[in-house]
Parts: sequence; structure tokens; C-alpha cells
Amino acid sequence: MPFRRSFDCLWCGRPYSTRDQDALEGWAQLCPDCVGRADENPFIRFRLHAALHERATGAPPTEVRRETNAATEGPPTEGSEMVAYYEARAAEYDDWYLRRGRYERGPVHDVAWAAELDEAGRWLDALPIGGQIVELAAGTGWWSPLLAVKGELSLYDAASAPLELARERLLAHRLRAHLHIRDAWAEPDRQVDALFCGFWLSHVPRSRLASFFELARHWLRPGGLFAFIDSRFDPQSSAVDHAPQADQETMHRRLDDGREFTIPKVYYQPAELEAGLLAAGFANVTVATTARFFLLGEARAG
Ligand SMILES: C[S@@+](CC[C@H](N)C(=O)[O-])C[C@H]1O[C@@H](n2cnc3c(N)ncnc32)[C@H](O)[C@@H]1O
Repeated sequence: MPFRRSFDCLWCGRPYSTRDQDALEGWAQLCPDCVGRADENPFIRFRLHAALHERATGAPPTEVRRETNAATEGPPTEGSEMVAYYEARAAEYDDWYLRRGRYERGPVHDVAWAAELDEAGRWLDALPIGGQIVELAAGTGWWSPLLAVKGELSLYDAASAPLELARERLLAHRLRAHLHIRDAWAEPDRQVDALFCGFWLSHVPRSRLASFFELARHWLRPGGLFAFIDSRFDPQSSAVDHAPQADQETMHRRLDDGREFTIPKVYYQPAELEAGLLAAGFANVTVATTARFFLLGEARAG
């Protein structure tokens, strides 16, 4: 990870600026309070160890490879407002996961959210995923470390700013992946063992869901696993100044700086997704739910 004078602490998320050109905090991207917790926290110990190495050698101990492939790379031809939205939201995207700022809804809600998020993570971690793995619309890579430890991960998104954060997250975990700018609607260029999408299906309009499931099946070798995590409708899952509707097809979103965007957002029911997956030729289809917030889906390519 490169030295940064100003950064959001990788552990607590608070912004911090170092005074010293060569401060260890800037190499570790941890604030002094979190650095002081190294004894009790293995992640912070790991980051400090890596930062010492990087400061001494000027290089990260592992690199995420950035590959290009002109044939398949490129921004999407449609949905550009959505890509612009996620490009602009990248730095504040994880606030949604962490219930910070406009996503904070009070302790009871936030604890329930964190518990269900953990449940989703444990579910994903327990899936039999291995070999070559593709993650479409990977964003800031919240789920990517869980996948990168299981096989050879290719991480795609149409927006570069979230992918850059995904790259940093993987580096912080000392994990490797192939990162590309790539439209989730681009035809697969190979068949892989597993395909994962986090919070992407709810951005697929109903009119295109069947086409996306076809594409997902084409990504997979026979028997390959398609897994996804997505949103259930809950009035409190989005920001305080967003107003989701259960039957919506699009949603009006704001950023911290007040900019506004309208993007596709569909709250699919499990049965609807299961029927679509079966129709697209998937087998062993299950779409489960956590108590309030998430859909957890898995299916095998037939
Ligand atoms: C809700 S975020 C999900 C990010 C990540 N998968 C997660 O679970 O946190 C949706 C992502 O889709 C990406 N995206 C939007 N349109 C896309 C497209 N046509 N092709 C690929 N990615 C796209 C956005 O840039 C954004 O990172």
C-alpha cells in the first residue's frame, strides 16, 4: 500500500493526516488510536508489520495484478447514470455497510444490521467455492477477500473508483486478484467454476433479469456455482434521506455532498429469483433470506 499523508483509517474509518512525511501511520493507513491497539488486534498488527516492510523497501509485500484485455474491457454502453453514481459514491460507499453518517439508524437497528451482515458473510464463506472465480460489479470489494482466499479471483466493475478501493482492501489482506474495468453485461470470455454478485441483481431491471441469468449461466462450467447476496426491502436499509418503495423499479439516491442520481433498484422476492434461475437452466436453486435485510442465493449451472 503506498504512503498517504491523508487517509481514512482502515480500521475505524476516521480521517487522519500525518505531519511527518515518513510516519508509520501513513504507510499503515491507520490512525494513532488504532495503532495503539495493535496488541489486541491481529489486523492492526498485520498492517503495521506490512507498513514497516513497505517503508523499508518502498514496495508492498504483495501486489494485486492489474491486467488489461482490450477485447472485453470498457465502460457499459447503458446505465451510465448508475456508473457515474457509484464512481462518485465510492469513498462513502462502505458507510452503508458500516451504518455510518446518513446510514446510521440508531443502536437497535445498527446491531441487527451488523448481525445479518455477519450472517451473510458466514453463509458466503461456507459455500463450496474454489478454482476460477468471477465477481461481477464488485464495487469496493467488500466480499472480495472472502472469495480471493478460495481460488483465483477476477474482480470486475464498470467504475474505476470503487475498484481502486477493492484493490486496497485486497492488498491490506495480502491477497491477489485480477482487477478489470468491465461491464457486467459483457459476454463472458471464458467459463469459470464460480460466479458471485453482491447487490447487483437488484440493479438489474425486471425486463432484463432473464437475460442476466442467461449470461450468468454462460459464465459457468457445467456444475459451476452462482452465488449472490442482495437487498430485501426494508424502509431503513438505505440512507435517512432515501425513500425506498417495495414495488419500485428505480430509486432516487443522494450523496453526502447533495448530488442526486436515479438508478435502477428492484426488490426481488426469493420466489421470483428462483423461478428465473430455473428458467435459465440452473439447478439446485435456493434463495434464502436473513431476518430483515438480505437475500442469499445459490444455484448450479445445469
Ligand atoms: C450496489 S454496488 C455493489 C458493489 C459490491 N458488489 C458489493 O456487494 O458491495 C453496485 C456496483 O455495480 C457497479 N456497476 C454499475 N453498473 C455496472 C455495469 N454495467 N457493469 C459493471 N458494474 C456496474 C457499480 O459501479 C457498483 O460498484
